[in-house]
Amino acid sequence: MRGSATAGRSGPTLVPGTVTLVGGGPGPLDLMTVRAHRALAQADVIVTDRLGPGPEAIAELGWCAEVIDVGKHPGHHPIPQEQITALLIEHARAGHAVVRLKGGDPFVFGRGGEEVAACRAAGIEVAVIPGVSSAIAVPQAAGIPVTHRGTAATVHIVHGQGPPSAATLAALADGSVTTIVLMGVAGLERLVAAALAHGTPASRPAAIVESGHTDRQRTTRAPLGGIVAAAREREVRSPAVIMIGEVARAGLLLPALPSEPVGAVQVDVLS
Ligand SMILES: C[S@@+](CC[C@H](N)C(=O)[O-])C[C@H]1O[C@@H](n2cnc3c(N)ncnc32)[C@H](O)[C@@H]1O
Repeated sequence: MRGSATAGRSGPTLVPGTVTLVGGGPGPLDLMTVRAHRALAQADVIVTDRLGPGPEAIAELGWCAEVIDVGKHPGHHPIPQEQITALLIEHARAGHAVVRLKGGDPFVFGRGGEEVAACRAAGIEVAVIPGVSSAIAVPQAAGIPVTHRGTAATVHIVHGQGPPSAATLAALADGSVTTIVLMGVAGLERLVAAALAHGTPASRPAAIVESGHTDRQRTTRAPLGGIVAAAREREVRSPAVIMIGEVARAGLLLPALPSEPVGAVQVDVLS
């Protein structure tokens, strides 16, 4: 039957001929929601990206769905967005239960809204399952709370492609705001120069977390005035989340106790 995905308290049951956008979280399979796992187990076709769990992790789960990888890989061009939506529509029209698995949350810089609109315009029903966004979970992986009572009460999440907006410059200059930058490695120097020129103190703490929640996780910290040099010295690479604000100060939550599990290597650069 072609029709609506049935939504109960435990979430939708996938229906043939529909598309479900699934938030895959920042990488590890156990940071996907139970609802996301259930949707993947029911899918006929899973269309995956480079970020989030990725095709290798999905293969580990041993489900029998066809897995189509549309993500970027070194040396390969990503599949254009129109082709991705065309693929989703084609498989749904063929009567498959299609899952579009995206890194983090589908609606946080994930082009999820565009995919929903394109499917609906083609008459295909779409459901969305939220995910753990890297914008919050990657700072957490480095021990950085994006809000902290008495320190930061506002979070400004922005992408780092193109010159910063007036709203971003105001957020950066405000000591009670945490600014979180996704896709910001290439534009870091431009962002920092603009922030300093618009009154953000060079002493404002900053941190960059690469490949958060993976075994390649690495944290680089420095005051804003030194973060570009630190990133260059350490050859910081994407994917990374950049945090600027008082919450990025080393030692905010005090050093971990020796008995606490340490999830990842953390290296600080303080210059
Ligand atoms: C196209 S955006 C997608 C964001 C995603 N929808 C989310 O909610 O996390 C890709 C950016 O997310 C960030 N990102 C995603 N996963 C990450 C991870 N595991 N570690 C560090 N940054 C990550 C990086 O800034 C990367 O350039």
